[in-house]
Amino acid sequence: MSTTSTVRSPLEIMAELLSFDGKQNPYPLYEQMRAHGPVVDVQGAHFFVTGYRECSWALREPELLASTDDAVQDRRLPGWRDHSSWVWLTKNMLFSNNPRHERLRRFFGNAFSAQRVLALADMIDRLSDDVVDHLAREGADGRTVDLVEHFSYRFAISVIGELIGVPSEDQPGMRHGIGAITIALDPITDMSMLDPGDVAMDRFAEYFYGLVARLRANPGTDMTSGWIKALDNGGDITEEELVANLMLLVVAATEAPQDLLSNTIRLAIEHPEFHDRIKTDPDFTAGFIEESFRFDPAVQALNRVATRDFDFFGHPVAAGTPLTLLIAAANRDPRRYDNPASFVPTRTENQPLTLSGGSHYCLGAALARMSVQAVLPKLITRFPDLTIAGAPTFRNQIVQRGHATLLITLK
Ligand code: HEM
Repeated sequence: MSTTSTVRSPLEIMAELLSFDGKQNPYPLYEQMRAHGPVVDVQGAHFFVTGYRECSWALREPELLASTDDAVQDRRLPGWRDHSSWVWLTKNMLFSNNPRHERLRRFFGNAFSAQRVLALADMIDRLSDDVVDHLAREGADGRTVDLVEHFSYRFAISVIGELIGVPSEDQPGMRHGIGAITIALDPITDMSMLDPGDVAMDRFAEYFYGLVARLRANPGTDMTSGWIKALDNGGDITEEELVANLMLLVVAATEAPQDLLSNTIRLAIEHPEFHDRIKTDPDFTAGFIEESFRFDPAVQALNRVATRDFDFFGHPVAAGTPLTLLIAAANRDPRRYDNPASFVPTRTENQPLTLSGGSHYCLGAALARMSVQAVLPKLITRFPDLTIAGAPTFRNQIVQRGHATLLITLK
């Protein structure tokens, strides 16, 4: 009997991926998509890419593939100009193409270089101790506690908040807005999906214009004060671009690191056999974190658009065609990884695509890795008997994958 009759079409698979149940465990669905090949051609109108080599190549081809700037948005999401979430997003570096992308990346990039991040070790160590203490208080006497709210979110926002000058008392109140803004990254099937993100973006814009005014009058040692000074001394950026990119930084440096941290801790709880090495062996811990990036990535898919006609691994792609790079599927490509469905923290040459690649490669990659590397051993050492209390569930989002809540007990 032919098996092809039982293979579902790419659009049927994508529809299930977009359902709430599909999002709880998308990995079997990616394998169904992979059965159609590393590049899945939906009648030339859209491509889904499941292969590691193919995704990796696509991320690194700025001449052929561009991210979602305003010209692309006009074709992809008519009506977006009435939604302040997308109006602001298109002003930040992530959703810009050259020459603006290069200019913005140059302006903000230095602050997050590997060398500058190394100098933040003491600060990250202090914030790690603070969040472990906070969790101890919240989960005292065997109380069930939500790891996402009281550990992952709190730690991620404390790091970026301190770096860009957001006072700690303002940080807890930003959580809902940050989450709402990331919904804009999902496939938008109804424009009202953008409403909560629009409200949050307007509120954040007002907040960050206010923060810039306060820090201009009374500068501190934070990055924003430095950027305001550069701007006022004729720097190659406008105040609106500064505000747009501060909002990008607060969202990008909170939501994905929160999800990475929650996913990594869940994997650590599920694998107590690795605890001794996490506590004592930083190289092993780095490998454990990298494998978490590969195995259950906080970012599952990235969008690209062809800027001209080209041949993509034997498939003709016309200018203007969207490509969905399923990087979470690429991270499990059996042509690239042995036993891709197994969690193996000792893998060598891991290099998952979770932090993207090419010109938009995550600006916070060094900061994200260093932060988790600092806090994870402290958590496992302080609470050797962490236990998950109830079945973990994931948010109703496909691009940004993370737990809505992750209830745990400390002992
Ligand atoms: C686990 C944590 C993180 C993950 C999984 C992640 C993932 C990503 C990905 C996939 C992209 C590129 C998207 C694309 O190519 O279309 C990106 C870009 C970016 N990330 Fe991260 N990120 C993380 C942490 C951070 C942190 C801590 C920061 C703080 C600085 C940050 C700031 C940025 C910025 C500013 C960009 C835009 C870069 C550009 O367009 O040139 N990210 N990130």
